[in-house]
Amino acid sequence: MALLEGEHLTKTFGGVVAVDDVSFAVERGEAVGLIGPNGAGKTTLFRTITGVHPPTEGRVFFDGEAITGLAPHEVCHRGLARTHQIVRPFESLSLVENVAVGAQFGGGEVDDARERAAEMLEFVGLADRRYADPDRLSVGQLKRLEIARVLATDPELVLFDEVAGGLDPEETDAIVALIGDIKARGTTVFLIDHVMRALMSVSERVLVLNNGQLIAEGTPTEIRNDPAVIEAYLGERAGEDLSGAVTRAGEDSQVP
Ligand SMILES: Nc1ncnc2c1ncn2[C@@H]1O[C@H](COP(=O)(O)OP(=O)(O)O)[C@@H](O)[C@H]1O
Ligand SMILES: [Mg+2]
Repeated sequence: MALLEGEHLTKTFGGVVAVDDVSFAVERGEAVGLIGPNGAGKTTLFRTITGVHPPTEGRVFFDGEAITGLAPHEVCHRGLARTHQIVRPFESLSLVENVAVGAQFGGGEVDDARERAAEMLEFVGLADRRYADPDRLSVGQLKRLEIARVLATDPELVLFDEVAGGLDPEETDAIVALIGDIKARGTTVFLIDHVMRALMSVSERVLVLNNGQLIAEGTPTEIRNDPAVIEAYLGERAGEDLSGAVTRAGEDSQVP
């Protein structure tokens, strides 16, 4: 069985079908990307997986066990963690304390939590800022803090929701490299991103949502050339990112 499986997941809000009968699997050790125009249901799909919005229909399995409808903290305890699109650190705590909260959530003693927090800050490149206040951080550093917090819970799989959102190209590349390092440590990665070049470079496989439905699944190259995917993005004014990636596909043969 795959590490994470969604089976016929549907989530409605009143009359809006945000996620519409989506089935997917993420294998252990894989990096899978999730794309789709604004409002396609990407964040909602992640929220049905992590228990924020239990699905209206369908089931979620993690590590062979049904996790449908578990509370977010229970899902996290099982090793399935997510980063948030908007990073909200505890402003009154230093970075190491912020990350230690995540580490303690994973279980164990306070001293161990601080040690683990320090390790995670080092891993994400914030070791020298460990006693700083979060309000001194740049957007890119805040994203790193969020990643450190999530890693401190010792997850088997991390869901990243637009972790490169709002970053400049240099910071984006650095975050992408960091996600590659996370995968190299053996952590499974499932990520949403609007920066197509970044997402395509780190994902082995890409799933595409449109109007809540899974319309395509394949390697980054297959996805870039998929007519249904191109069509879905053509209707979207805010979707320059993918249309950029689609037009770039022919030129950009270095990207897998
Ligand atoms: N909490 C909510 N209540 C009502 N409607 C929601 C809620 N969350 C998302 N939606 C709706 O579900 C659809 C999918 O949204 P979302 O999952 O945020 O898309 P994406 O992340 O792909 O941009 C949108 O039409 C959005 O307005
Ligand atoms: Mg979203």
